[in-house]
Amino acid sequence: MSSKDKFLPKGPGYVEKKILCIGAGYVGGPTMAVIAEKCPEYRIDVVDIDKKRIERWNSDDLPIYEPGLLEVVEKVRGKNLFFSTHVAEGIENADIIFVSVNTPTKTFGEGAGMASNLQYWEEVAHQIVKNAKSNKIIVEKSTLPVRTAQAMERILKANCKGLKFEVISNPEFLAEGTAINDLLHGDRVLIGSHKTKSGLAAAEEIADIYRHWLPEEKIITTNLWSSELSKLVANAFLAQRISSINSISALCEKTDADISEISYAIGKDSRIGSKFLNASVGFGGSCFKKDILNLVYIAKSYGLTEVAEYWHQVVKMNEYQERLFVRRMIKEMFNTVSGKKIAIFGFAFKADTGDTRESPAIEVVSKLLEERAKIVISDPKALENAKIDLKEFEGEISYEEDPYKAAKDCHAIAVLTEWNMYKDLDYNKIYDNMRKPAFIFDGRNILNHEELYNIGFNVFPIGKGQMTHFE
Ligand code: NAD
Ligand code: UGA
Repeated sequence: MSSKDKFLPKGPGYVEKKILCIGAGYVGGPTMAVIAEKCPEYRIDVVDIDKKRIERWNSDDLPIYEPGLLEVVEKVRGKNLFFSTHVAEGIENADIIFVSVNTPTKTFGEGAGMASNLQYWEEVAHQIVKNAKSNKIIVEKSTLPVRTAQAMERILKANCKGLKFEVISNPEFLAEGTAINDLLHGDRVLIGSHKTKSGLAAAEEIADIYRHWLPEEKIITTNLWSSELSKLVANAFLAQRISSINSISALCEKTDADISEISYAIGKDSRIGSKFLNASVGFGGSCFKKDILNLVYIAKSYGLTEVAEYWHQVVKMNEYQERLFVRRMIKEMFNTVSGKKIAIFGFAFKADTGDTRESPAIEVVSKLLEERAKIVISDPKALENAKIDLKEFEGEISYEEDPYKAAKDCHAIAVLTEWNMYKDLDYNKIYDNMRKPAFIFDGRNILNHEELYNIGFNVFPIGKGQMTHFE
């Protein structure tokens, strides 16, 4: 039997392995959908305590917007992929349990604003102990502080009724907006385990899942702690590149150098590479800030002050970049935005997602509202989340999916998400319907600035010369 034949379905109803995923979020949903598609002989149950979220996973209106996700879900849902709220039953039946619950920054007590809040994760450990009746492999899919597996093992061992739980770290590297492609063609899968006989055997079982579609060289195995820490470090390095290029964008604005030309020039050096060098209003998303702050907290807790300060600067630079953007808007609009109508093009933290967690748009809009600007928010997928994020400003903001209607009678447009659709709008039409002088602040450098200037706009990109019609 070739290694491929091993994975062929062995007739109707055959189930080789039962996988449970606890947490049906941005990671749990897409990851399990792809595993279900690629491993037809496995039964995959995805459970969550959020009843509404599960209802949406069982409908055509999925709880998250992710290109290509619905197609994959439709192929496998009800066949070998099941969404439910049956956490206890799921634990009892599963051979392998992926834990993919949220691990946000702690907002209270020791480590507030820095450390990971592990309460959801720990609750899962207790639920596993309570409901398990057979040995299981527990897979950390959530991003966790280094050495979390040790804590998990201690909880599991303290109550294990003679059962054996092997804890494996298998962090997720997908990015939102490209999740399906990342899962299918990711650069690597990382599996960390104890180097004991049972640890290595469990790691092999997890590797077997990914072997259904990924070549062997993409499956990396390490010890548990390297795997946990690699995830934090990967996000820290990616975010560091953005903060680095953003720091230079501020310098470009002072010196007439052009940040896009610099990104291109330095990215051509194969040691540097071209990815993650787009200057922007700042990075957002649920993870970069949280994971770096967690890294900072861990370094501090080991007394590594310089290491902590070094990484903290990446987050501070990002906050600076967001503030700088708003300050520039106010300064260029004659030092006041009070009473001026401003259209926000894009509220999602990046293109191709409806997710707005830590979106720079939240900070920009809040600051503009403090300055008493009138805000209209437009976004093709994120208005539902924007309304939740900005609940405290209810009545002060309007929401308009159509960018043409959003920009009508506005003094300025701020592009805050790199949605492709914003590149192709009819800016002549938009300009005609705006107040004059009309301003456009391109927080993503995605528009054709010269064309906009020729239409009549005063154009303010990031990290490159502004183009204005003023004397
Ligand atoms: P999410 O908030 O979208 O989903 C987490 C889900 O877990 C929620 O639906 C919540 O209701 C559920 N949950 C919490 N406690 C539970 C419990 N006791 N039982 C059952 N369900 C429970 O979070 P996410 O974005 O999917 O992130 C999950 C983890 O993956 C985080 O650690 C994150 O850092 C990491 N991660 C996220 C991404 C991403 O792109 N969002 C990428 C890589 C890694
Ligand atoms: C990021 C990582 O890329 C994933 O590998 C990781 O799994 C994930 O975090 C996670 O742990 O949650 P994600 O946040 O979904 O993925 O999206 P990214 O593409 O990394 O973008 C993050 C932010 O940086 C966005 O706001 C984006 O617009 C911004 N960005 C990205 C820039 O400003 N410039 C760039 O050059 C690239």
